Amino acid sequence: MRTVLARILHTSAVIALLAAPVLHAAADKPFSGIWDIADHKLDDGSTYHIYVQLEQKDSAVVGHIAYPWGYRIISETRVSGNHFQLIDDKHQLIAEGERVADHLELLLKVGSTKNFLRTATPVSTEPLPKKLPLPALKPVKANGLALTPPMGWNSWNKYKENVNDKTVRAIADAIASNGMKEAGYIYVNIDDTWEGPRDVQGNITTNAKFPNMKALADYVHSKGLKLGIYSSPGPLTCAGYPGSYGHEEQDAKTFAAWGIDYLKYDWCSAQTIYSPSEMHAAYQKMGQALADSGRHIVFSLCQYGEADVWTWGPSVGANLWRTTGDISDNWKRMTEIGFSQEHIGSFAGPTHWNDPDMLEVGNGHMTADEYRTHFSLWSLLAAPLLAGNDVTNMDATTRSILLNPEVIAIDQDPAGKEATLVERTGDQEIWERPLSNGDVAVGLFNRSSVPVSKTTKLASLGVAGTARARDLWAHADVNISGSDFTVQIPADGVVLLRIPQKQAHLARNRQLSQTYGGECVTCVLDE
Ligand code: GLA
Repeated sequence: MRTVLARILHTSAVIALLAAPVLHAAADKPFSGIWDIADHKLDDGSTYHIYVQLEQKDSAVVGHIAYPWGYRIISETRVSGNHFQLIDDKHQLIAEGERVADHLELLLKVGSTKNFLRTATPVSTEPLPKKLPLPALKPVKANGLALTPPMGWNSWNKYKENVNDKTVRAIADAIASNGMKEAGYIYVNIDDTWEGPRDVQGNITTNAKFPNMKALADYVHSKGLKLGIYSSPGPLTCAGYPGSYGHEEQDAKTFAAWGIDYLKYDWCSAQTIYSPSEMHAAYQKMGQALADSGRHIVFSLCQYGEADVWTWGPSVGANLWRTTGDISDNWKRMTEIGFSQEHIGSFAGPTHWNDPDMLEVGNGHMTADEYRTHFSLWSLLAAPLLAGNDVTNMDATTRSILLNPEVIAIDQDPAGKEATLVERTGDQEIWERPLSNGDVAVGLFNRSSVPVSKTTKLASLGVAGTARARDLWAHADVNISGSDFTVQIPADGVVLLRIPQKQAHLARNRQLSQTYGGECVTCVLDE
């Protein structure tokens, strides 16, 4: 396997070195093997690679396509002469092409409308690695980290493969000097594409973009911040770089020796090895390895909310787990994720959190109101706040969102209770989060593309009688009184209120007594 992984490298120097021993796809299995598409797409003009791995399994050809931005399973290949079609596990056609001499001409179908014509050259004909035994299920001792949802930055949303040592240092410099560190953003997390080949002892190394990971960790630590890294339980990461498969203990020790403080562990190619029911044991393997590594390392599971991870995440030592597929910087995807988390809220709490994916605030494809909705919703959900933008260069609006201390305080509330949906009327939703001091955070959301004047019963806001609440985006105190309360909510926007303890308490008791048809005894006492 090492030979396969050693060949799946992304620096041009190593690719050139490896060019000589390239093996060609076997003539009797014309499509089997690993095919490399060297693409030119990044902002800086650098090259990234797409890998297509195809394997003959009985009469079928299966495998995957590893894009720098994600991973597609090929569960069926339809072949007719030299022509073939690659079908994914959801029966979608994801690529088609021709075998031409020693290469493939491929039409890659990305999204519903984009097609890219690319040439793929053979890298190796080695089959997928064999399945290794998994440990028996046994709880991993909790590491006690992440008492509140982790806060920091991650490279993926903005930089994808275009991240390197220089970028990470610049991000750390910015976080340490622009107020983010004081606001709680501590983790500087390198996502996929840092990985290099394994050395002769099987130790993972870095690629040319990260010449010295230990030195980088020392630098980030010197700024009072922590460094995070990324790997996979499978042989390849989502972007096609080496994963930790078969090297779990060794990698955990390497990460500890480098001074890594956070590991995001992404399922990706593990799905070609394990069944979904084996996910728990596969994650436990790394959870135990981290626990035995001698260093406190936050363990972040990334498996897109599969296999009801929230029911077993804490038992593998996880501090957070992804609850959905990838976010992207647009209103539709962000709200699809953010407004669909209600059913799992009760599984989160101090040291173990639901993770609806990293923030897109400041990446440019949503309006300021949409980003305020994003940040408010994530805070009500007690979600990790991992900025995903260029924090070295933020405009005033982005700063005012990511650095809003009153909203961050909601996210970081020590009770760690997620908000629940208390009312949905058409495009308007009210979410309410109980806070540790008895206050209540209330998000009044407008999911429609026109502003609304929203009137609601005060009791639905957790208010009895008259209240002086805090508007967390206007940074102003507001008086609310009467039986109804009306707010103006912008298009795709939110009004986020913090309602003080006394009123919230009274309203709760009123509501309870109404619900159960009794008298509100404590209301009278309190009043
Ligand atoms: C998956 C994850 C993303 C990111 C990429 C990296 O798609 O869900 O968050 O880590 O892999 O390849």
